[in-house]
Amino acid sequence: MAKKGRVFSGARPTGRQHLGNYLGAIQNYVELQTDYDCVYCIVDVHALTTVETTQELRQNTFEMALDWLAAGIRPEDSILFVQSHVPEVMELHTYLSMVTPLGKLTDLPTFKEKVRQQPDNVNYGLLGYPVLMTADIVLYKTDIVPVGIDQAPHIEFARETVRSFNYRFNTKALIEPQVKHTEVKKVLGIDGKEKMSKSLNNHIELALTPEETVKRVREMVTDPARQRKSDPGNPDVCNVFTMHKIFSPQEEVDMINVECRKAGIGCVDCKLRFAANLNKHLEPFRAKRAAFEAKPSEVQNILDHGGKRARAIAQATMAEVREAMKLP
Ligand code: TYM
Repeated sequence: MAKKGRVFSGARPTGRQHLGNYLGAIQNYVELQTDYDCVYCIVDVHALTTVETTQELRQNTFEMALDWLAAGIRPEDSILFVQSHVPEVMELHTYLSMVTPLGKLTDLPTFKEKVRQQPDNVNYGLLGYPVLMTADIVLYKTDIVPVGIDQAPHIEFARETVRSFNYRFNTKALIEPQVKHTEVKKVLGIDGKEKMSKSLNNHIELALTPEETVKRVREMVTDPARQRKSDPGNPDVCNVFTMHKIFSPQEEVDMINVECRKAGIGCVDCKLRFAANLNKHLEPFRAKRAAFEAKPSEVQNILDHGGKRARAIAQATMAEVREAMKLP
């Protein structure tokens, strides 16, 4: 069957993936495989903007490949690869940087946030991050980019950069990508306030054991106004209830929605129910992950093969780009 177009997405190899990555992006990666030609990338070069040492980079890349494969990325259909295996992306990054006004980069909220987070390591790569991300996307002639809402400014930047490049070099070589979000655009961490992320240590990893999951879920912050079990709660402001709506059967969601409001169910009980449903949901994922983990050379082969397929597309695009720019 002819596919509707190309999908590309990437994630930094920060280690094992969490519920934010899963609900905000990976679920879309898996779903889109049916109708689109999909390319999924472990962006190890992007990770270098924040890491101090590259000691764990290979292990983190492997862990992430396990998570994606276990979640349902099918290497027989989709391309799964590591960013640094396709050096053409660095070349395209340089060309795109020539049509990027500096002020646009310094204005981006994601850059400002990183400057706040790591004032001692404001490197050039951090500033050029959206340009490299644009290169990732356009190198594969991407139509659709599934990402969480936090990445929306980067996709908008990519669209503007494509327009600038095509106009400046009078070409149609690059395609303007469209963003695609999941229903849950932003997943909150166990603090119930901030975006779930590893750097804030408020995350729940998919690959935890069931026991570790229960422990982590017990730490989740519920309705802050509810001090005692006998106080009625408000599920509408409770992150645990938000999670129930995703992972629990409808009758249980309805029951909690009623009982919480009249203090008929306590927060601990509510959390344990969520943990049980989450563990059940993740059972097939964890089994599949363990099976891949036992065969590291197979995973390596998948990444190597994906890298070769990705590079062939990248080289064809670069030939067009150089031609458009009249590079000798
Ligand atoms: P990264 O590695 O931070 O996250 C990977 C994906 O997970 C989504 N995500 C979330 N969604 C909802 N709620 C959350 N709490 C949450 N945390 C993470 C992110 O939106 C993302 O989709 N810059 C990108 C990586 C990248 C990329 C690309 C993405 C590099 N090149 C090209 C798409 C296309 C990033 O740092 O994602």
